Amino acid sequence: MPDTSRSQERLADALPLGRPQEAGPSVGFRRLLLERWSCRAYLPDQVPDDVIAEMFATAQRTASWCNTQPWQVYLTKGEATRGFAVSLAEHARTHQPVPDLTVPGEYRGVYQERRRGAGLALYASLGIGREDREAREKQQLKNLDFFGAPHVAVITTDRDQGVYGAVDCGAYVANLVNAASSLGVASLAQAAVAMYSDHVREYLRIPPDRLVVCVVSFGYADTTHPVNRFRTTRADVRDAVTVVDR
Ligand SMILES: Cc1cc2nc3c(=O)[nH]c(=O)nc-3n(C[C@H](O)[C@H](O)[C@H](O)COP(=O)(O)O)c2cc1C
Repeated sequence: MPDTSRSQERLADALPLGRPQEAGPSVGFRRLLLERWSCRAYLPDQVPDDVIAEMFATAQRTASWCNTQPWQVYLTKGEATRGFAVSLAEHARTHQPVPDLTVPGEYRGVYQERRRGAGLALYASLGIGREDREAREKQQLKNLDFFGAPHVAVITTDRDQGVYGAVDCGAYVANLVNAASSLGVASLAQAAVAMYSDHVREYLRIPPDRLVVCVVSFGYADTTHPVNRFRTTRADVRDAVTVVDR
């Protein structure tokens, strides 16, 4: 086993993530990543077409294995977003989830702790207690209404590219939400909608060779809503990166 303890110390020096630099070419990008957050309450205003075009043109620069760019996006605007939301809610009332991608089986250890932490922060922001199952389920159902967002982008991958196609689409989602943030547009990646992949495919007439990865809802944030006031944290960089130098 390589000895990583000394390397961990050097890593801490090399990556002072807690101390934003004063200047430098990466400051804007880093600040963008530090400041983006998931929005779960929106104003009804449509995002102008040129802003949407800029968002998607930026995300289109995402790197992918062999540059296959496996993502295909189905984007709603105007009345289409609400129509889609209504159809999803109706469908979910009478059908079981049928996701295209394998859903995580069990969260264990730190993953379970982090998951619980994020959930608690979310429900606490709304004054929903740990035991209030009904209120939690009601809040969870708002996923299918895209939390009132005026737009939703359904991110699909090429079925034949398997796990790595989904990896490329994950990178695309990350770039899309950050591109949105850089333009003052709030957003939320939502796997909850992909639980009904069969309905999403049928409703939007998505060809059978595409798999629904997730959706990204977006619009302008309702900054007065309490659900938009909490922020998540991240594990220390040393918990995620191990330097091996000998
Ligand atoms: C692939 C993906 C799927 C997600 N699905 C959901 C979802 O269905 N509903 C939801 O409220 N948040 C969802 N999120 C948002 C995460 O909960 C959120 O990104 C995480 O808690 C970190 O918080 P932050 O985005 O505010 O930094 C998803 C995020 C990702 C990347």
